[in-house]
Parts: sequence; C-alpha cells; structure tokens
Amino acid sequence: MKQAYSLISFLLLGGVNKITMTKPFMIQDSFFKKAKALGYRARSAFKLLEIQEKYKIIQPKMCVLDVASAPGSFLQVIAKIVWNWGKVVWIDIQKIDPNFWFPNIHLLQESIFEYDKIHAYICGLGISQFDCITSDIAPSTTGITWVDQYKSVELNLAILDVAREFLKPGWTLILKVFVWEDIADLIQPIKEQYKKLSRMKPKACRDRSFEEYFICIDKK
Ligand SMILES: C[S@@+](CC[C@H](N)C(=O)[O-])C[C@H]1O[C@@H](n2cnc3c(N)ncnc32)[C@H](O)[C@@H]1O
Repeated sequence: MKQAYSLISFLLLGGVNKITMTKPFMIQDSFFKKAKALGYRARSAFKLLEIQEKYKIIQPKMCVLDVASAPGSFLQVIAKIVWNWGKVVWIDIQKIDPNFWFPNIHLLQESIFEYDKIHAYICGLGISQFDCITSDIAPSTTGITWVDQYKSVELNLAILDVAREFLKPGWTLILKVFVWEDIADLIQPIKEQYKKLSRMKPKACRDRSFEEYFICIDKK
C-alpha cells in the first residue's frame, strides 16, 4: 500500500519528468569541467560572463547586490570586476561559504521573501542604493514545468520589490526566469519599472533547461 502511494505521488509530482529531465543535469559537461579548471564554484559563472560580455553591465568600483548567490560563482565574476574599491552584498537562503579573498563582501542568509529583514540589513550597512542587482534565483523544482515557472515568477516578483527600492534609477537588474508559457505576470511589472527588457539564453544554460535571463535595463 505504502509503495503504491509512493508510486502515485511520484508520478503525480512529475517523477517521470524528474527522471527524464534531471538525469542529464548530472552530466559533467564542458562548462562544468571548465569551471572546475578555472576555480569557479559553479558553471553559472559562464552565464554571467556571457551576459557581461554582451551588455557590459558591471563596472569597477560598483556596489552590487547579488541575490541567490550560493555557492558563489556569480560573485567570483562580480568581485573580479568591481575589485577592492567596489562592494558586494549577497543574499541566499542557503548558508554561504564565506571563504573569499574579496574584502568588501557582506553575506545575508535569508529568503528573498523576507523583505523587512533584507531592508534592515542593507540600510544597516549604510547602503542606500546599488549600481547593479544580479540574480540567478531558482526555486526547488518539481519537474512540473508550469509549477516551476510559477515558483520562479513569485521569486522574481520579490526581487523586483527589492530592486524597486534599492536599485539606482537608470541602472540594470539581471534576473533568471524559468519560462515555459505566457509570463505576463512578470513582464508587465518589469515594463512598468524599466525602460527596456532584453532576454537571452547564455550558452552555458543546459539545452533542456527552460531558464532565460531577463536584462531589465534603465530603471525608471
Ligand atoms: C542556481 S543557484 C545560484 C548559483 C549562483 N548564482 C552561483 O553562481 O553560484 C540558485 C540559488 O537560488 C537560491 N534560492 C532559492 N530560493 C531562494 C529564496 N527564497 N531566497 C533566496 N535565495 C533562494 C538557492 O538557495 C540557490 O543557491
């Protein structure tokens, strides 16, 4: 009986999808190997590097907020650009290994949904607004694509709220979004708050992944 229940919930919760969709994620592809060879904490570094090459968003001395940072490969890329004169705040619900060589880094282990705590932390650092906000946020996936897109949109709406307060007007927000079907719930507020939205899928995204990066340019 217990086994039958497990089988049913496994199928209902997208277990088949999980097998077919997540197994290839275990493959150590060329980006994984390259990340290891170059000392990046994750292959995501190459996604941000490609975005940066195209848009030149992050500049030396900037004050950057990196949301959903663990294990920290975005941060490695950001830190190399802003260097010692810049500042980085990162937020992740997971515990972060603080073993970084970069001095001006501030770590907050918190959920992006905890707006008041994030607000208090940033203000406590004496930061009024950031020059750039990056996010690589991903919900824990179910394998059911519309559910995962919904969870991704909820997370990104919470980031938009933080950016509304803490991103300087005229500057850029980078979001990672799971896009499966109509995503107007997210695009509409972005268009209200930013002059331009540009979408891209960096080469380091896995072929089967439905993630995209939304470059929200020129905050109003
Ligand atoms: C793809 S990983 C980020 C990889 C990271 N950008 C890097 O380059 O190493 C997605 C992250 O989203 C974080 N995350 C998911 N839900 C979150 C939430 N509610 N608040 C903050 N972070 C969250 C996860 O903990 C995870 O570390």
